[in-house]
Amino acid sequence: MVQFTLPKHSKIEKGRHHPAPAGAEKTKTFKIYRYDPDAPDNPRIDTYEVDLADCAPMVLDALIKIKDEVDTTLTFRRSCREGICGSCSMNIGGTNTLACTCAIEDVPGDEVAVYPLPHMQVVKDLVVDLTQFWAQYESIEPWLKADSPTPEKERAQSPEERDELDGLYECILCGCCSAACPSYWWNSEKYLGPAVLLQAYRWIADSRDESTGERLDELEDPFKLYRCHTIMNCVQVCPKGLNPAKAIAEIKKLMVERTL
Ligand code: SF4
Ligand code: SF4
Ligand code: FES
Repeated sequence: MVQFTLPKHSKIEKGRHHPAPAGAEKTKTFKIYRYDPDAPDNPRIDTYEVDLADCAPMVLDALIKIKDEVDTTLTFRRSCREGICGSCSMNIGGTNTLACTCAIEDVPGDEVAVYPLPHMQVVKDLVVDLTQFWAQYESIEPWLKADSPTPEKERAQSPEERDELDGLYECILCGCCSAACPSYWWNSEKYLGPAVLLQAYRWIADSRDESTGERLDELEDPFKLYRCHTIMNCVQVCPKGLNPAKAIAEIKKLMVERTL
């Protein structure tokens, strides 16, 4: 029988316990993944008891409170705290989402489990390495490409043409969908993943862009596009309610149409 041995640093250990402050009125337990790859210790799950009577309602509020008042070493990304910048994406209660728009009371179960986005290299605690994700985004050349002379004013677009961008332009590149996609887990070096493909389609669908053929040529690859097997995890987790699987299907449809 084949025997597998987990690498030493993949074993999660019991962490530290930070009890609720004296006089806490409404205690909620947060179990938070802690790992510093530069330290010799294994990852651990620390427990923090937070008084919700003295805490704003979102998971990000609790993380900030913990960092400010209990444990300054807890590391996470955040900026806008209103679902716009995409930097606070993490796995909360088993789902990839944004900590700033995830209400503590909406997390299922008695405790709030907080982990980094899955299948991504951890830089520290809840911060993952998005270097490859951004390189893939850059690879689709996410800007308007047009060779026709620049008009005196703007490049015009009809209201109907503008409507084609609905469901695409709202993407904040949080990466929740790509980190939930099994195809991206296994082939993230070659498959572009749902977030980047949705962005690719955002420019393909833009009536002002004149590089559709070139963009499709770039995606015509057994891995970059066709590793999507329509598993639909991406649709379930998108905190902005977008549908990357549909965008991917539209690209595949255009690939077929141009061969007819
Ligand atoms: S499609 Fe949704 S989940 Fe994916 S990166 Fe964009 S906003 Fe985030
Ligand atoms: S539909 Fe495609 S992109 Fe979305 S999770 Fe499934 S395989 Fe990944
Ligand atoms: S902090 Fe900007 S999306 Fe959450």
